[in-house]
Amino acid sequence: MTSQHDDQVTFYEAVGGEEAFTRLARRFYEGVAADPVLRPMYPEADLGPAEERLRLFLMQYWGGPSTYSERRGHPRLRMRHFPYRIGAEERDRWLTHMRAAVDDLDLPPHLEQPLWEYLVRAAYGLVNVPEDAEPPVINRSFTITSRDRRDGDEGETIRVSLS
Ligand code: HEM
Repeated sequence: MTSQHDDQVTFYEAVGGEEAFTRLARRFYEGVAADPVLRPMYPEADLGPAEERLRLFLMQYWGGPSTYSERRGHPRLRMRHFPYRIGAEERDRWLTHMRAAVDDLDLPPHLEQPLWEYLVRAAYGLVNVPEDAEPPVINRSFTITSRDRRDGDEGETIRVSLS
């Protein structure tokens, strides 16, 4: 293969086509299967279908066949991840298993780097827990300003002023 030809192939073809993405997804899901935090997040007992969705998505993203969208429609990944709590820990575990899977492909740096940078960016972009948001206010001090006990505990109205 000449270097001129190299420039024209899709990233998908350059990394080794379907076989490479199959290995990537399989190796990644081996990590997930053994991960005590990530494994329970997957709703299906069988990780096989999830592995297939990730595999097809990545193939499509990098210029391979668009089987993913034929089966699943528009990826809308952020929306599809909303049901799952993805904080820094989930993201970092996901990336740890993906790192191992990428390493396994043993790609040259000019291919490995864009692949890895994309995966990191995508994983950070799917975090849906505002890590740096202030926690809910539950420990503020308050003063009871009035208390209505006429209906007993059940319907009691307690008015407080927060300070
Ligand atoms: C940041 C940490 C992440 C966690 C914890 C996570 C977790 C999950 C879970 C629990 C599912 C549902 C399993 C299924 O039914 O397929 C899922 C689906 C999926 N994830 Fe992630 N994910 C993460 C990041 C990513 C990233 C970075 C990508 C893409 C680069 C990705 C691509 C997908 C795809 C394609 C699906 C299947 C969507 C569908 O067609 O329903 N995920 N993910």
